Amino acid sequence: MGYKKSIAAHERAKKIIPGGINSNVRAVSEPVPLHIERAKGSRIWDVDGNEYIDYLLGHGPMILGHTPAPVVQALQRQVERGIVYGLQSELEVRAAELVCTHVPCAEMVRFSTTGSEAVHAALRLARACTGRKKVLRFEGHYHGWFDNIAWNQASPAAQLGPREDPPLRPASEGQQPEDGANLVVLPWNDTALLEDLFARRGEELAAVICDPFASAAGLIPGQPNFLKTMRRLCSEHDVLLIFDEVITGFRVGLGGAQGYFGVTPDLATFAKALGAGMPVSAVAGKAKYMERFGTLKTVHAGTYNSNPLAMAGTVAALEAMSADDGAILKKANAKGDQLSIKLSEIADDFELPITLRGVGTVFSATFLPPDADPVTDYRSARRTNYELGRKLWIALQNRGVQITSMGIWFVSTAHTDEDIKKTLKAAEAALHELRGSKR
Ligand SMILES: Cc1ncc(COP(=O)(O)O)c(C=O)c1O
Repeated sequence: MGYKKSIAAHERAKKIIPGGINSNVRAVSEPVPLHIERAKGSRIWDVDGNEYIDYLLGHGPMILGHTPAPVVQALQRQVERGIVYGLQSELEVRAAELVCTHVPCAEMVRFSTTGSEAVHAALRLARACTGRKKVLRFEGHYHGWFDNIAWNQASPAAQLGPREDPPLRPASEGQQPEDGANLVVLPWNDTALLEDLFARRGEELAAVICDPFASAAGLIPGQPNFLKTMRRLCSEHDVLLIFDEVITGFRVGLGGAQGYFGVTPDLATFAKALGAGMPVSAVAGKAKYMERFGTLKTVHAGTYNSNPLAMAGTVAALEAMSADDGAILKKANAKGDQLSIKLSEIADDFELPITLRGVGTVFSATFLPPDADPVTDYRSARRTNYELGRKLWIALQNRGVQITSMGIWFVSTAHTDEDIKKTLKAAEAALHELRGSKR
């Protein structure tokens, strides 16, 4: 596979767009951030004409595959009727009703544009409702890039500090110590440390926020006892539990991670699969909290919030996903399970054991040293052999399969049995290459 045109496009982009990219996560792509020409169903094509079976899926949104017919048709109809009104439309009421029908915690909804904004709204609301300042977050979880939450996301192992009291680490230069001053950080899945923190400081906390699958830390599902304890402690101390379902919502199932685990938060944030690619996000939750936005004392605003184009796509996406009790999502999750299990069987054959975590439509397939403890948090995930993972990612790309650089695979409802077959064949060849380079 050649990348000549992508390389040339990147050179041109670098002159006028810092780093040649518009989101820092894209910087890691090799040999350069690929320039894509078009996408359809389970496939994307780059400017060099290379075709990929796509498991990157825009980092998650494209749960229905690329250019899904119901969404495209809804957009075509809406674009003739207006893009941004700055006023209300029936579409957003319908979208909110669909979210509330399927998400356990959702009694009311407010829409924004990005996941980061939805998290921002949820944190502000929690502080307004409780009159408290502190928010507990977990190491390695990603909740967007805003100043007051983007801390302790991806600290190097040497900077992690003691488990019981990790020092605060900003994600970016430019963030100030005051931005993180109201955060408390703990390792994920450590029930004893959680109980201890609540016993000491429970009355200071406005909220606990987590991604129930710790997706950015390499997909580390919350352990049932940990999640239940978190729910109980939040209720006992009048702390709002926020599930950040930007990755998991309308992907792991219609009810998201909260439906999957049977643990209902007070608030939850959604984006990505919510609109199957539309720039849309939501904060949803119990009416007794959400009503506070309606008083107008807790500010939530945005020119593009609930714009009719995004809402038309969202309604179409939610209707497609929820038809027949979420049949297509269930099928996609089953297909993903089939893919990940076969993948790990092939890796075993090559004596390159793969560790699988997650569910069918979003799983991580990574390499751990044989003596590594089970991965339960960001710290234990740091033992992952990222270099071998990177080689697999590139070897797959060179064989027409695109995954995320972190070894996370997103599967859509558009992936076919034929795609899975071709992917496994590519994986076999890629692992063959890796075994050669390992020796
Ligand atoms: C769990 C989680 N929360 C929040 C965000 C931020 O969303 P956005 O990139 O739309 O701002 C992301 C993005 O990947 C995410 O994975």
